[in-house]
Parts: sequence; structure tokens; C-alpha cells
Amino acid sequence: MIEITDLHKKYSRNFVALKGLNLLLDNRVSTIIGRNGAGKTTLLRILSTQLYPTKGTAIIEGYDIIKETRKVRSIISSIPQEAQPIGILSPMEQIKLYLIARGFTAQQAGKEARFALDELDMDEFRNSPSDTLSGGMKRKMFVAMALASNSDVIFLDEPTTGLDPLSRMEVWSAIKRLKSKIILTTHYMDEAQELSDFVAVMDQGDVISRGTIKEILKAFDGKMRAERIDGETYDIKVGNIAVKYIDKSKVDEFLRMGYDIKQVNLNDVFLTRGMNLES
Ligand SMILES: Nc1ncnc2c1ncn2[C@@H]1O[C@H](COP(=O)(O)OP(=O)(O)OP(=O)(O)O)[C@@H](O)[C@H]1O
Ligand SMILES: [Mg+2]
Repeated sequence: MIEITDLHKKYSRNFVALKGLNLLLDNRVSTIIGRNGAGKTTLLRILSTQLYPTKGTAIIEGYDIIKETRKVRSIISSIPQEAQPIGILSPMEQIKLYLIARGFTAQQAGKEARFALDELDMDEFRNSPSDTLSGGMKRKMFVAMALASNSDVIFLDEPTTGLDPLSRMEVWSAIKRLKSKIILTTHYMDEAQELSDFVAVMDQGDVISRGTIKEILKAFDGKMRAERIDGETYDIKVGNIAVKYIDKSKVDEFLRMGYDIKQVNLNDVFLTRGMNLES
């Protein structure tokens, strides 16, 4: 369990990236979703003890990230958003090195590394220098590294950004088969939906909604999103696209007015922030 209490992060005198965040993460896979700059990476870096909060703390599996940093480090693995491999090392060497640094024997490390690379369908590239891998392959290598660690808690910051659809599915399937607790960030609604029961939606340094996707979308029960370029009826305008949330009974009426009708999804949580949908 991860218990986050009143977490603040101030990067400068007038910029606050986390604004007193309170969050309980108790599912096997928890997803943090949010737009660019919402504070996801800041949160993950604090939880994985790479960055000090300005105020507040978090308890991970009973250990305080500030007072028991070493304990926390011994039970977690973290793959940063901008992770880059050491170019001359192959995925196999890279993962083995990481595991040995974490206390695995060389033999154990080799076994776990091979298993994790196999799981992500990276056998073919196992011994190639990382410099020669594509960007997506490098990301997958890091996911394999986290998986191989068998840590109690694994933090994955945007594990599938830049991956092709097949590679994304391989990463998802590996995540699903793991026993570790996973906290991941993403921009993708389908990823959140596929992997986790619990989703926290972040915006501007705070959690604006949390729960199952169903619970989060409760405010939209019975509604559809109607969109039309330069439409005259709207709740919000995104660029020149008019967006209106309508009752299902009004679908025909809006179709006649030339609107496209779409299902609501987690994107709408951001779009409608602070809006009253009753009208
Ligand atoms: N080291 C830093 N110094 C100053 N400001 C920072 C620093 N790191 C992040 N920020 C700012 O804090 C805010 C949150 O950044 P963060 O990287 O946590 O967002 P994010 O949700 O991970 O975004 P993305 O989806 O783009 O990865 C942003 O406005 C960012 O510019
Ligand atoms: Mg980020």
C-alpha cells in the first residue's frame, strides 16, 4: 500500500508542481493519468526517493520515503520517463548489471534477465549493443529491467510512450502477469482501462478525480460528446471545435445539426474541469 499525505513540491518561489496531494494506492496496478505538466513525473520521482518533497510524505509498504529512504529503495524499482541505456551494453548485460547491483548473484541475475527479455519478446536483441536498438526497443528493455527486479513495488513512468501497438500489448501482457505492485503513468485512456482498476487523474499538481474508470465517468452517465468544427452550440471550444455534452435522447437532433457524436472517455474529465454538466 502507498499512502501519500499532503505532498507538496515547490520547484521555485512561484512555481508549485504538487499542491498538497493526498492519495491511497492499494491496487495491484494503479494508473496515474494526466496531461503534460500535470505533475506525474514529479510525483513518481518523489515516491521513488529521487527527489525530496517540499512538504508532506508517503509511506510505501510501511516505510516512510523520507525517514526510511534506504528501506524504501530496497523494495522498489523505478524506470524514469527519460531513461537511456548505456549504449555499449546489450540488454542482457544492462539488466544483469542492474540486478547484481541490487544484490542478485550473477547466476540469478542472468536467469531473471533472460526470462524478462523473453517475456517482452526481445530474445532476438538480447545481445545487441543498446545503441543499435530502436527507441521503442530501448523502452521495452527498461520495462524488462523493472520486471526482472521482482521488486515489491515498481514505478513505470510512461512505459509505452513511443511504442508501436504490438509492443504496447507485449508490455501490457508482461505487466499483467507480474506479482509486483505497479504504479504507472500514461497519457493513454485505453492503457489505463486495460491495466488497472484504480485510476488517479492529475491536473495542475493535484488529483482531480480517482477511482475505477466507471466511477470517474459517473458524472457523464447517459451523456455523449457532440463535436463540430465551428458549431454554434457548445459547452467548450477546443480550438475551433465546439464540444457539447448532450443527453442520449438528443443524439438525433445534434446529428441533424451536423455534429459528430462520440462516447465520453477520460479525456472529458480534463475538458470539463470545473464545468457544470447539468444543463
Ligand atoms: N526540475 C524542475 N525544475 C522546475 N520545474 C520543473 C522541474 N521538473 C518539472 N518541472 C515543472 O513541474 C511541472 C510538472 O512537471 P512533471 O514533469 O511532473 O509533469 P508530467 O505530468 O510528468 O508531464 P509529462 O506528461 O509531460 O511527462 C511542469 O510544469 C514542469 O515544467
Ligand atoms: Mg512526465
